[in-house]
Amino acid sequence: MCGIVGYIGKRHVVNTLIDGLKRLEYRGYDSAGIAVMENNSISVIKAKGKVSELQKKVAEKLPASASSDISSGIAHTRWATHGPPTEINAHPHTDNSGRIAIVHNGIIDNYVELKKHLSAKGHKFVSETDSEVIAHLIAECFEGDIVQAVAAALKKLEGTFGIAVMCADTPDVLVAARRGSPIVIGVGNSETIIASDISAIISYTKRVIFLNDNDIAMVSAEGIDIRSLDNVPVSRETAHIDWDAEAAEKGGYEHFMLKEIFEQPAAISNAIRGRLDETQANGILSGLNLSAREMAMINRIVIASCGTSMHAGMMAEYYFEDLANIPTEVEQAAEFRYRNPIIEPNTLVLAISQSGETADTLAAVREAANKGAIVAGICNVVGSTIARETGQGLYIHAGPEIGVASTKAFTCQVAVLLIMALKFGRGRRLSRHDGMKLVEEIKSIPALVTQVLEKASDIERIAKKYADAEDFFYIGRGYLYPVAMEGALKLKEISYIHAEGYHAAELKHGPIALLERKVPVIALANDIPGKDKMIANMQECRARKSPVIATATIGDEEIKTYSEDIIWIPRSSQLITPIPTVVALQLFSYYVAKERGCSIDQPRNLAKSVTVE
Ligand code: F6R
Repeated sequence: MCGIVGYIGKRHVVNTLIDGLKRLEYRGYDSAGIAVMENNSISVIKAKGKVSELQKKVAEKLPASASSDISSGIAHTRWATHGPPTEINAHPHTDNSGRIAIVHNGIIDNYVELKKHLSAKGHKFVSETDSEVIAHLIAECFEGDIVQAVAAALKKLEGTFGIAVMCADTPDVLVAARRGSPIVIGVGNSETIIASDISAIISYTKRVIFLNDNDIAMVSAEGIDIRSLDNVPVSRETAHIDWDAEAAEKGGYEHFMLKEIFEQPAAISNAIRGRLDETQANGILSGLNLSAREMAMINRIVIASCGTSMHAGMMAEYYFEDLANIPTEVEQAAEFRYRNPIIEPNTLVLAISQSGETADTLAAVREAANKGAIVAGICNVVGSTIARETGQGLYIHAGPEIGVASTKAFTCQVAVLLIMALKFGRGRRLSRHDGMKLVEEIKSIPALVTQVLEKASDIERIAKKYADAEDFFYIGRGYLYPVAMEGALKLKEISYIHAEGYHAAELKHGPIALLERKVPVIALANDIPGKDKMIANMQECRARKSPVIATATIGDEEIKTYSEDIIWIPRSSQLITPIPTVVALQLFSYYVAKERGCSIDQPRNLAKSVTVE
């Protein structure tokens, strides 16, 4: 996600801010900026691209001699969510007077209505971001006390935020606040640092205070005063951090992949935020430029994607057909581009891509557009080529995915595709009652994933037991079939174990010849329709001496009879259970790879973004 740094104190402010931004760069970024306080006025410098681009600009505009008068500042690296990565959209944003500057992480859900309201009062907006509204709102609420103005503004914001604010009328303080997006404050000697992430603080001080939701901190070089939104003083403990800088980047996790696996409850919450209409029991797809009528006309969906994103597409095939009755096909993007696919006027071609840069998926987008299809993207990276060329679609808001093996992007893709199927379904045969049930189920996904993560040590124990195997089969049926494919892909790419994902019924048509004592089978036997058939398949595997590791629904004791080990998954419907199940399989792969001493974040021969054929 985006990164925030704020500094007030005795050091060289500009250098400290740039150094902090560099330490946040690992999170991904597309632009950066700083705002500094110089003789009671604020100067803002922004640049598209890397922090080094910003650094060059800053060196030109604020040479070392001139920057000695600077007493404080705030800075930001941006990972675009609203509006492409341009200099104008980069943070900090200011109000029209230029006396208030803010940096923001998170998403403001009600920014459109706030913008309308503020525009009517004369505020002029220059960017396409949701964040700019915060600066204007604070200015609108400002009556001389910046903390009060921030509190009043925050009461009007819906969504998530971590913010740092500076005001030229109160040059000796910075203000920080959070709701749903982390802010941590480093407490030094005659200096205070605000950051979204410990890694920007740790080389200056190990004493930190983590803000809670709705805390507002008034920060000076000498200390911190934290209040509630209603101006009641609150006290927060000062923690001592003993991580080094590298561990801090990974939030204390050993690998980015593990961090990203554990980020999934938050990432999925971001993906679904603002996309569920609880009044109409419907999905909200504001990124699709299609009227209800145009949506109703779509009579076929073709999904083009690769790898993990293709597995998300396979999930979507079930969703679109079951919920919306729309015939759906999933194509490997590489096949789609060369095999002259049939596209009719009301065919929707969906390109799913985390990076938005995958060469084959991009070529499929172009081929589909040439053939006159309605094309939409499901991407993570805002402003990526596929997002731009499709011109419409949905961002999954998973945040930067750094580990090469895709984890949180997959679950966020699936969540967004399910919301899309809900919307298409409600426009067709899905009743209000069923729509409402699904809305509630979608809302429960982050909590279900959390329950799986809480049992990570059980999965680790099972993974260690099987880490010596050289071949694995993953079998699933129905909604769990794509999960079997994805589970096998995850294992092979990070542990280098040969793993195959199969439909459980297909085993008998050939692969069963490979089963023996040394070939474990992961059987996805959650308690959903098809479980009885899966039990029969598990018995077939055991009859060939393959050890069976089952995923099973908590409380389903029967599965113990048919498996050596069980990974327990919380109960949910067949539409939802693939998501917590895949998270369990991600953990399984991770712990197997760790046991084998593999290079988890950068597996051999793989690249995060495959921009060649
Ligand atoms: C697997 C993985 C790859 C990608 C594939 C498509 O963990 O990361 O299989 O899913 O290369 O990439 P995107 O989604 O960026 O188009």
